[in-house]
Amino acid sequence: MGRILNERTSALKIVVVGTGFVGLPHAAVLAEQGHEVWACDIDPARITAYQSGDAAQIERYVNEPGLAASVAESLGRHLFFSTDLAAAAPGAEVFFMCINTPPNRDGSTDLSYYRSAAETLAGILAGRADGRRVVVVNKSTVPIGTARLLEQILEGAGCRGVGVASNPEFLAQGNAIDGSRRPDRVVVGADREPDFELLRRVYPQFQHHVRIRYLETTPETAESIKYVGNTLLLTYISFWNGVGARISEALPNVRMEDLKLGVTADSRISTWGSYVSNGAGGSCFGKDIQSLIYQLNMTGQSTDLLQAVFNINEYQKTYLIDRAVHEAGFGFNQTTVALLGLAFKKRTNDMRDSAALKAVESLLGRGVRAIRAYDPLAMDEARQRWFNPDQNHLFERISYHDSAEEAMEGADAIFISTDWEEFRGLAPLIRAYAKPPCLVIDGRRMIADYPELTAAGYGYLPVGGPYLPPTQPA
Ligand code: UDX
Repeated sequence: MGRILNERTSALKIVVVGTGFVGLPHAAVLAEQGHEVWACDIDPARITAYQSGDAAQIERYVNEPGLAASVAESLGRHLFFSTDLAAAAPGAEVFFMCINTPPNRDGSTDLSYYRSAAETLAGILAGRADGRRVVVVNKSTVPIGTARLLEQILEGAGCRGVGVASNPEFLAQGNAIDGSRRPDRVVVGADREPDFELLRRVYPQFQHHVRIRYLETTPETAESIKYVGNTLLLTYISFWNGVGARISEALPNVRMEDLKLGVTADSRISTWGSYVSNGAGGSCFGKDIQSLIYQLNMTGQSTDLLQAVFNINEYQKTYLIDRAVHEAGFGFNQTTVALLGLAFKKRTNDMRDSAALKAVESLLGRGVRAIRAYDPLAMDEARQRWFNPDQNHLFERISYHDSAEEAMEGADAIFISTDWEEFRGLAPLIRAYAKPPCLVIDGRRMIADYPELTAAGYGYLPVGGPYLPPTQPA
């Protein structure tokens, strides 16, 4: 990446507080632009890993294409890491809050980590000697009104000349670096012109861009854009899973792919979201919709639509297992199931809110004898989640495998839960490794050559299509 700034033009000293999935890619791409970026975290192990510049160590914490190379390229020149926020702060004009905001049990957002970081920063900024204006910017997703909360924390600590802003990140996992370099839009919510101006200096490359929308608005609007955007995306997915897929599953002779093509040919209708699946997972959608439901409920608003979207998505994660029982007459009790794909989507090792987690609960609840798990990237995370039998002794029934072939050996059913490309070519491997009448449950419509399977004595049950029994007895 060519740097577009230098010290004599508009490069800024920027501090990024929190170096997880949001903070680290953001810091790396800001450094690529030529800013002097200090990325701070309270976790010394992370900072040591990042400071090493070693790809394997960086990827243990945040695994994103192009991230480690970007960090290594800027390290020690434009990008610095530290656990000492107070030492990093002097001279910085912009502080990005990239703190994790996990969900509470009731769907609300746990702001304790955020508050603690904001209070630490407020203490540091209150004591600074120079009177230069600085702005503290919320980057990670926070409830609507959190910029105002931040303002109170800063004022409460006695800060002067410190503005607040909201600049939500919209990155999808697996695309964090490219997405930061070339976003669809940059949204900046602030109250005062000097704060907008500082953010313009952070992002000069996105000003007056022909394709990128650079939107300046109020902090509350910026915060709302993130929630409305994410819940609308999940609404698309739940619409296709809850309506399009159901029609194609229940009514004769409706072809899912053609239905999708015909409907999305309308330029007003998005193709994104029309990939029917066994439910959307990940760290954002479920958390954000629950948080928005909570926030609206607090104001006495009806949240029926959002609740339905959330429920459809959650139910979708185990719906195919129910269909296997009811449509294919498959009794899971005492069977062996190969679970292929554990991550919430392809090209990530992240299992947060993954459909596979719900599938495992449902399968164990139905009395399966064994679950043979495989994922190209998520095996370490899977072991961490399930290996501890103290948590649930039924987890002892899960075994961990190095390939789909190995996982499928001796399986009575195969459940494809993630859209990894390697699963597209699975039909011949199924025939080689799992004996008919094994039932193939396809949560991602990965197997285009399913007639080859049914002809060889396997049952095939896809999302968005009817159950197809073996056409030839096993
Ligand atoms: C999402 C949003 O896309 C991003 O803008 C936001 O900032 C964070 O949340 P991410 O969680 O990385 O990003 O995943 P995304 O690629 O959007 O997919 C989410 C889930 O939906 C995955 O499980 C995916 O497989 C599933 N999905 C996606 C579908 O089931 N059908 C689709 O058509 C698209």
